[in-house]
Order: sequence, then structure tokens, then C-alpha cells
Amino acid sequence: MSKKTILSGITPSGRLHYGNYFGAMKQHLDFIEKGDAFYFIANYHALTSLRDADKLREYTIDVAIDYLALGLDPEKCTFFAQSDVPQVNELAWMLGTLCPVSLMEKGVAYKDKVAQGLAPNIGLFTYPVLQAADILIYHSDVVPVGADQKQNLEFSRDLAQKFNNTFNGDHLRIPEPFIVEDVAVVPGIDGRKMSKSYNNHIFIFDRGKDLKKKVMSIVTDATPLEDPKDPSKCNVFALIKLFAEKSKTEEIAQKYREGGFGYGHAKKELLELVTDYFAEACEKRAYFEARKDTVLDILKAGGEKARLRAEQVMEPVRQATGIIRTH
Ligand code: ADP
Ligand code: TRP
Repeated sequence: MSKKTILSGITPSGRLHYGNYFGAMKQHLDFIEKGDAFYFIANYHALTSLRDADKLREYTIDVAIDYLALGLDPEKCTFFAQSDVPQVNELAWMLGTLCPVSLMEKGVAYKDKVAQGLAPNIGLFTYPVLQAADILIYHSDVVPVGADQKQNLEFSRDLAQKFNNTFNGDHLRIPEPFIVEDVAVVPGIDGRKMSKSYNNHIFIFDRGKDLKKKVMSIVTDATPLEDPKDPSKCNVFALIKLFAEKSKTEEIAQKYREGGFGYGHAKKELLELVTDYFAEACEKRAYFEARKDTVLDILKAGGEKARLRAEQVMEPVRQATGIIRTH
């Protein structure tokens, strides 16, 4: 049996934080061994919220460096920038011509973003159509994503089906979502979902004073130091759980319950855990940071592989729709 094609993307709309790591990147890295993985940096998607060329370039390279630092092996998967595969926009247009406006009007991500103050432009509105093209252009079988992407994946399946029905054939493969349900929403410093939009995030590669300041400002309740505490109600503990081994987590939980263990102690534990957890990645990050040309070469090689695959899927799609090309 041939290997399943696994695909996922991450938007370079800022530096990456713990929510992005535990909610998305960690799953991507774990999945590499399970099939033929395609991972890309969704820089066209980032344009829906970011209009600063220098920043977009910087974040795109930064996301690539973060992935490589965190252990993505470019020999074991296809790692590339969305913008290196122009066929994606071609397919997105075709899917858009079949997509009812009413389908996009159901988009919760669109409504959320507009509620947060983003301009309600067409790019934001049709974001899921481009995402569907990202997925369908490689005949992806499995798409590992966080729970917040569930609806976008349903849209992708709907659009693939609609395309196949309209043009009478199995031109596009219907992808299976792989929703990582057991990953809790990572809380931010203020206890709400960690997100750039709430400015309550801790970046994966925050270190030193920045990291300490953020960890120390995590919101806790006012239970006095000597009193027993319920770890399940504590934002610091929610983060500790993500970074610590099971036995260490249990040991810290016990300290909470016994009393005499203050939130300051818990924050110190968290600082140590985070520093250890990302120690190797930090070194690797410094290595790639100093070798940006190598990073670009990796994306270039990945882009070539991705384009080849995309073209193989796109050619029969053009035939099916009657789009001619004279070159
Ligand atoms: P932000 O909210 O900071 O803008 P994004 O929406 O760009 O983050 O997140 C990219 C991916 O990272 C999401 O699809 C989701 O899977 C994951 N993610 C982001 N924040 C969290 C969080 N707090 N908890 C779990 N997963 C998250
Ligand atoms: N929308 C995804 C996010 O915000 C990023 C993304 C773009 C993506 N295209 C994709 C994810 C295709 C999976 C598959 O996290």
C-alpha cells in the first residue's frame, strides 16, 4: 500500500507561541513518520491580516527556522512556502467558482476575525477556499489540525465533492481530517486562550528576562501560600502539564494539594521545565538563524517537490474543466 499523504500548514502572521506549538506544530512533527508529509508556510493566508512586506518576509523565515529548530527533518518530509506553488491559486479560483456564498457565510473563523476588528475583505471571506486548494492540490489523505480548523476541513471536503460531482470524476481526493481533540486549549498569561490577538502569549523562543517576566505575570487566584490548592484550576499548572513528564506533573500536583507551595514556586518550576524542554531547540534555532541561506535552500527544494506534485494533480483538473494552456 502506498503511503498516505499528510498535509498541514501554519500561517506566518507572527512569531509562534506555546498554543501554536502544542495545538499544531507538535502534531505535525509527530506525524512525519506516519506517511508522506507535506508541510507549508501559508504566507498567502497571512496577507489577510498582515500588510507589511518586511514583517511577512521575516515571519515566513522565522516560522521555517522554528520548525527546523524544533526537529522538522527536511529529508523526511516536503517543507515549503505556499507561494512557491502557484497552482494553489489556480485551483482556489476554480473552487471559488463552485463555492456558494452561503457556505462561506457559515464560516466561524471569518465571523470571529471580523468581530476582533479585522477588515471584512474578500480574502478573509474566501480564506477557506484557498485552504481547500492547499489541501486538495496534493491529493492529501490526512490533515492534522487543531479543533479550531474543523470547519475549514469540512469546507474542503464539500468543495472537493462539489468539484467531482460537477465535472463527473474522482479528480480531487476527499481528505480526512485528523483533529487533535485531546490537546487542551493552551491558556495564555491571562487565562484566556493563548493567542496573538489577545496579546497573552509566550513565544516558544522567549528566553531570559522576557520569558521570566511573562511567566511571573501568569494570572493566579489569591489563595495564600500555606493553603492547599486545586491544580486543575490553575493556569500555571495547565502549562506545567504540557511540559512535564507524567511523574513530574503528579509530583507538582501533590505539592499544590498539600499546601505550603505558592504560585511563585509553581512559576519557578514552570520556568525550569520550559527552559529544559526547549534547550536543544534553542541551540538549533541559533544555528539556523545564522544560516538563513540554508533555510531558503531547504524551502526551495521543498517547493520544487511540492510543485511537481501539484502539477500532476492540476493537469487532469484543467482537462476536466476545459481550461486550455498553450505553453
Ligand atoms: P493566534 O490565535 O495566535 O492568531 P493562530 O490562529 O495563527 O494563532 O494559530 C495557528 C494554529 O495554532 C491554530 O490552528 C491552532 O491549531 C493552534 N493554536 C493557536 N492557539 C492555540 C491555543 N491557545 N491552544 C491550542 N492550539 C492553539
Ligand atoms: N488555517 C490554518 C491555521 O490558521 C493554516 C492553514 C492554511 C492550513 N492552509 C492550510 C492548515 C491547509 C491545514 C491545511 O492554522
